[in-house]
Amino acid sequence: MKTALHFPLRDGVLHAEDIPLAALARQHGTPLYVYSRAALRSAWQRYENAIAGRNALVCYGVKANSNLAVLHEFQQLGAGFDIVSGGELARVLAAGASADRIVFSGVGKQAWEIRQALAAGIKCFNVESAGELARLADIAREAGVRAPVSLRVNPDVDAKTHPYISTGLKDNKFGIDIRQAPALYRQARQHAALEIVGVDCHIGSQITEISPYLDALDKLLALIDQLTAEGITLRHLDLGGGLGIRYTDEIPPDPADLLNPVFDALAQRGLDGLQIILEPGRSLVGNAGVLLTRVEYLKHTEARNFAIVDAAMNDLMRPALYEAWHQVAPVEPRAQTAARTYDIVGPICESGDWLARGRSLALAQGDLLAIQSAGAYAFSMSSQYNSRPRAAEVLVDGGQSWLIRARETIDSLYALERIPAAGQ
Ligand code: LLP
Repeated sequence: MKTALHFPLRDGVLHAEDIPLAALARQHGTPLYVYSRAALRSAWQRYENAIAGRNALVCYGVKANSNLAVLHEFQQLGAGFDIVSGGELARVLAAGASADRIVFSGVGKQAWEIRQALAAGIKCFNVESAGELARLADIAREAGVRAPVSLRVNPDVDAKTHPYISTGLKDNKFGIDIRQAPALYRQARQHAALEIVGVDCHIGSQITEISPYLDALDKLLALIDQLTAEGITLRHLDLGGGLGIRYTDEIPPDPADLLNPVFDALAQRGLDGLQIILEPGRSLVGNAGVLLTRVEYLKHTEARNFAIVDAAMNDLMRPALYEAWHQVAPVEPRAQTAARTYDIVGPICESGDWLARGRSLALAQGDLLAIQSAGAYAFSMSSQYNSRPRAAEVLVDGGQSWLIRARETIDSLYALERIPAAGQ
């Protein structure tokens, strides 16, 4: 059986680093997210190695996993942050981030979010439309400050990934058509309350090839040439996030495979002074987490075998939403039981509530399963559908573990709700 470096199979039990996952399940219950600090650090280190000695900043894409402990870990390692909401801004500040390393992406920034980010003094707004640019200028003028601006352009390249997570095509809602960008930069230059600092793109997620990035880079460099000719100079070039991870048999590129040709291209054009920003999310956290779940029932029908587990689509939405594939491993593999082909499904009242399909597993009721590669877009996309409290999260470091998010309580599910008084 394939096991990951930081979640090894030792003495017949899957571990998170040095702790048996079965012990964590006993202590904290299931469903339970378990993260490996060593895995977070080694994913970070690959970026660190790729940017060593360069003018570059890695801004962790917070949406992938926004637990404060995870954010704090990356802050300590020297990361900047890519945020997409006022909520994420508050989180990264609470985790100790310094504002001058925060970039703010997203197509729908509201006035209050812009105000808070300006007040915090963030590094840059990645502006996604003419309307947003105008709003940003108004709010900055009222506040008596200059807003640092980068335009997120849409380079119209195919990231060759799932349509829901492809963002750089001209059909997508994201970014500004690269052909419209020069006109918008000219407008921005006219505003005393705006300061042009960069250009940005983000072409998609779970990208397993370098060529789409290089296609986008070519287009951005052509834009930079045009802007330079008009006297508009930039301080940074942000290539977004998107590097993929291995869920099954993908062989994703290393950050250095992406960055080396980028630095070469800049050097060739004499643009060594331009800072490179990346916004990786998944590739920093995706393989640093597993979702632990217990088999409640086995149901063998004429057509299929179901393992009904205590985690569901509210805990891990990716299979239901994208038909995403996550490896499923028994925490204590059984040697004596015959394997059958199972669909791993949750208790939610929807046929779409499945976590994995057609997996050959030897199972008994009560067994624990580890759903792998669940560090990214897993807990952060979870909900309380069917009034299911969201799972707890644990961080492991060697033989030590911390509960970094308590399991939600049942009464917290409706604590904000009110029954109208009779007669009103
Ligand atoms: N920057 C921007 C502007 C983004 O929109 C995203 C992700 C990132 C950075 C980070 O991308 P990453 O390095 O994680 O690929 N829920 C989907 C993924 C959605 C990605 C959204 N944007 C999934 O579970 O596959």
